[in-house]
Amino acid sequence: MQAEIVVLPGDGIGPEVTAAAVQVLRAVGQRYGHEFHFTHELIGGAAIDATGEPLPARTLDAAKRADAVLLGAVGGPKWSDPGAKVRPEQGLLAIRKALGLYANLRPVKPHPAALGASPIKPHLLTGVDLIVVRELTGGVYFGQKQRTATSASDLCEYSVEEIERVVRRACTLARSRRGHVTSVDKANVLETSRLWREVTTRVVRDEFPDVTLEHQLVDSMAMHLLSRPREYDVIVTENMFGDILTDEASMLAGSLGLLPSASLGEGRVGLYEPIHGSAPDIAGRGVANPYATILSAAMLLRHSLGLESEARCVEKAVDGALAAGVFTADLAPAGRGVSTQAAMVAVLEQLELECQPVV
Ligand code: NAD
Ligand code: IPM
Ligand code: MN
Repeated sequence: MQAEIVVLPGDGIGPEVTAAAVQVLRAVGQRYGHEFHFTHELIGGAAIDATGEPLPARTLDAAKRADAVLLGAVGGPKWSDPGAKVRPEQGLLAIRKALGLYANLRPVKPHPAALGASPIKPHLLTGVDLIVVRELTGGVYFGQKQRTATSASDLCEYSVEEIERVVRRACTLARSRRGHVTSVDKANVLETSRLWREVTTRVVRDEFPDVTLEHQLVDSMAMHLLSRPREYDVIVTENMFGDILTDEASMLAGSLGLLPSASLGEGRVGLYEPIHGSAPDIAGRGVANPYATILSAAMLLRHSLGLESEARCVEKAVDGALAAGVFTADLAPAGRGVSTQAAMVAVLEQLELECQPVV
């Protein structure tokens, strides 16, 4: 097949981890006889420096025409002045909104070889296989913002339709898994959460009677996620709760550098990015963990290009590299990590070993 992939490296470690994932996608293309065409465009701080805007029109146009978008990360100290007029993060929020990507899938499945990297006891981690469906284009991120000399406010808003569509996505996903959905809210305090709970209950009752639904308040969820992670299958939640809970969930896997994501809407184009940020503390040193971005590329193959065996092949290759103990510094004992490049090469070697293209 032929596919147009727009790559948005962004800032900090973004260019390092996307370069690794593009190499893996090129190798998959060669092995399976696909023509992937890559175009690199600007977003975030890099785009502000070059054009003054965090999401130039040219970038959005290219993304709209593409089959899929692969993104690294945006942001960093250079653009973080609280008084700044434009911020890199606005570019990311704007592209999610403009492409209508309301469902952000964030799978968490600790690898047996990396259990030692997690601060959680290993017996709690075996068998953990959960996926967070984070609402991505609503809530407090997108409500009206106000600032006066003495106060500030961010409005949190959700419509019935915004809740329905993401809950349907979570329930459909649950049907292909263990059939269980946990909806996370703060219905004891927030009006948006009370609407969330009402709508979720109705959608599951009327449209997904085969799916089991449980409601969980976000504060105790933050605790249960670490004390009994095996019990969760699909977790659906609003934008900010999903953001926070997934960085927490990365500690089940052992590092932020291991969690990929897919942002999907009703449209054709999906956006794929690791859940981590631009990691300014390690940027430019070639030591970032590329696995989360490589696994995001696997999700791209699956969800945007419909290439399931190719996606599995990439996931198996990352599994193989981890099983062989190829760890970057975030996973390895102090001072013993391999470079981003070495981890990527290990994945390419595993691709050769493990994946037999169907001829
Ligand atoms: P961060 O995710 O960038 O980093 C948190 C910690 O995790 C750091 O110690 C970092 O070194 C480590 N880390 C993250 N990814 C790693 C990887 N692949 N390999 C090894 N270590 C890794 O979060 P932060 O420091 O709070 O934010 C830094 C900047 O990134 C901010 O400007 C923030 O807005 C931005 N950010 C962007 C995105 C995105 O583009 N999707 C996501 C989160 C944060
Ligand atoms: C993420 C990031 C973004 C978010 C920021 C950079 C806007 O933390 O993708 O998880 O909060 O959605
Ligand atoms: Mn985040």
